[in-house]
Amino acid sequence: MINRTLKAPAQAIRRFVENRYGMFIHFGLYSVYGRHEWAMCYERIPKAQYRQVAKRFKPREGCAREWVKLAKSVGMRYACLTTRHCEGYSLFDSPANPFNAVRTGPRRDLVREFVEACRENGIRPCLYYSVADWGDPGFVAGPKDDPKGWKRFIGVVHAELKTLMTNYGEIDYLFYDACPPDPKVWGVAELNAEIRHLQPNILISDRCCLNEDVASAEQHTMSSPGKPWECCLTMNESWGYNSTDEDWKTPRELVKTLLICIHNDGNLLLNVGPQADGTVPARSVRDLKAAWRWISRNKELVYGTKGNPFNYADQKLSAYRGHTAYVPLHFYHGPDTVVAGIGNKVRSARVLGAGQAVRFRQKNGRVSLIGLPARMPDKPFTVIALELDGPPHGIPHPLLGQGRAKYD
Ligand code: GLC
Repeated sequence: MINRTLKAPAQAIRRFVENRYGMFIHFGLYSVYGRHEWAMCYERIPKAQYRQVAKRFKPREGCAREWVKLAKSVGMRYACLTTRHCEGYSLFDSPANPFNAVRTGPRRDLVREFVEACRENGIRPCLYYSVADWGDPGFVAGPKDDPKGWKRFIGVVHAELKTLMTNYGEIDYLFYDACPPDPKVWGVAELNAEIRHLQPNILISDRCCLNEDVASAEQHTMSSPGKPWECCLTMNESWGYNSTDEDWKTPRELVKTLLICIHNDGNLLLNVGPQADGTVPARSVRDLKAAWRWISRNKELVYGTKGNPFNYADQKLSAYRGHTAYVPLHFYHGPDTVVAGIGNKVRSARVLGAGQAVRFRQKNGRVSLIGLPARMPDKPFTVIALELDGPPHGIPHPLLGQGRAKYD
């Protein structure tokens, strides 16, 4: 009998949280269409027609290694690949689903290539799996109208997940998507128990509609207090490659989202949608590198820190490790910059990215950073590191209440 109450071990959770920043990779037949990963559904493309495109799905040899190397080079510490999206095409050798990349299309196991590349590069491998399959008549009809078809469909889901959890070594995190909202209709409690049996260190996302290890925040940064949470974010507005989507976020917005995740004790899983040949769009590469230039200067704040040590800081964002607090200056006011609400005695202050000491004055709960230059020394955000006389504690704001301020 498998123990159903098992959850991920504390050490695995700590590693996931400390790693902070990961790459999401949406790759599948929709990458050939290049019109958003929901093209099959949105455009109501008949299944037989949609699937023809598998013949043109020819990812370059070594592309998975390129994604993982890119992730590593821009400071990401884990990566999550879509092993099958809602189109129902499995990127791996799946005995339960013949419509897979080993039998149809490239004739390669892309999940294996991805996981091996992660291992070679010290990136923690994570897998995304969509329960929904738009091409499966049992799924389309649903459990009420076609109980037999539904049962067969759920059988495929269970079998595929067991394959993924058995054949690819240790997987850090299972990112479920498109799950039926009623856990009973797809036996997810039993399935997760079996997954934990196969992968004792795995973290499972809450997207399966059960209270598992990681809360998922899609395209927003609202935290889930008391448990690890992760914001997954697109760089434009599509997850899968979309050649005409020009709604790119700026590197400043990407860094700001990362800072908000840090403040709220969360992770950021930033998405790329490679083209059909496996190439990551040049714009994504450029902006990931731009964000990395800032991250690399401010690593001390990014990884392994805890969020929001002060009850309310006027600069809004903060984090800490030990006796050091980090305040990313949301608004830069040069020598007029004030950080309010710090209950500790501040021993020293420095600009993190530049390693420069800053003169300051502390009085009545206000730290005035009088030594800051008029022009921002580190863009897009200057971070001040404050050495404190002990673990950080805040002074409750007289008007804004006592609670820890979330920043959404
Ligand atoms: C949304 C999208 C889906 C994508 C997922 C990633 O649910 O509809 O296509 O895979 O977000 O979190």
